[in-house]
Amino acid sequence: MPDLLSARGLTRTRIESLLQTAGEILGGEPCQHPDAIVGFAFFEDSLRTRIGFETATARLGARTTTVLAPRRSPAMEASETLEDTIRCIGGWCDAICLRHPDRDAPTRAASVSAAPIVNCGNGDDEHPTQALIDVLALHRLRGRVDGTSIAIVGDLAGMRCVHSLALALACFDDIAVRCISPTGLGLPATYADAMTAAGHALETSAVLDIEDVDIVYMAGLPPQTKVGALGAHERANYRMTAEVASRLSEDALILCPLPRVDEIDRNVDELPQAAYFQQSDLGLAMRMAILDEVLAQVGSPEAPLPTAAGP
Ligand code: CP
Repeated sequence: MPDLLSARGLTRTRIESLLQTAGEILGGEPCQHPDAIVGFAFFEDSLRTRIGFETATARLGARTTTVLAPRRSPAMEASETLEDTIRCIGGWCDAICLRHPDRDAPTRAASVSAAPIVNCGNGDDEHPTQALIDVLALHRLRGRVDGTSIAIVGDLAGMRCVHSLALALACFDDIAVRCISPTGLGLPATYADAMTAAGHALETSAVLDIEDVDIVYMAGLPPQTKVGALGAHERANYRMTAEVASRLSEDALILCPLPRVDEIDRNVDELPQAAYFQQSDLGLAMRMAILDEVLAQVGSPEAPLPTAAGP
């Protein structure tokens, strides 16, 4: 069953297959799953991932069903368990897109689901579909992923998209990564180790030193409302302004998973290096490619109705 739970299990072959499918979709080739139903279980807010996957489902000719969660029983004052929720949806749908605040939610869901699980963000752990979109952006906007130099800026400890991006980049060759973060918000060792094990050059820095890189990935900082949040002065040290962007080469690209809070000034949007809305646009093709992969068995003789399979 082709779950997508983590970027840790990704291989270069699987990523290249998704890049190829996304490229074909962008080239206008038909990609349809008219018999499929995709369930959406989003236990956290989302604009891009939820609406993006819902749009991708519609573009594939498939249908969606949505769980507005968490669902509470007023009589019992308790939430239905994730396992019970997923076990039910997995009995009706052909795939489930899941966003949940708990790090172990995707594996718990996959352990009871008859339908493949697509992890759309689990707490501060991972966001593998965003990483695949980021890789597609590098592939399409830069022409290749191998040989890229990239500065990843912001809260590298807590931003799940960064963790999955590090693991996805570890599937490619000859990447130079500069991790730029405030003190205490550096990239956890498990992700740094994955990149060094892949042979990538890894530097860390506390200053926004981005003059010589191909890509600046603005991951964002923790919300100002968070306990122990950085002060405005310190946040400003990690902001992409027009002045900072003027130090980039003309063909460098600024990427951002969005939403943007204060990490990129609005007037940067007009600069040639600003590529984050193109990155967002490309997300549709990658989400369609991911669903195409997980829905591959739907309608085949080997794939009876989900309920017949059982968890
Ligand atoms: N990039 C991303 O995950 O955005 P949403 O939180 O809006 O889904």
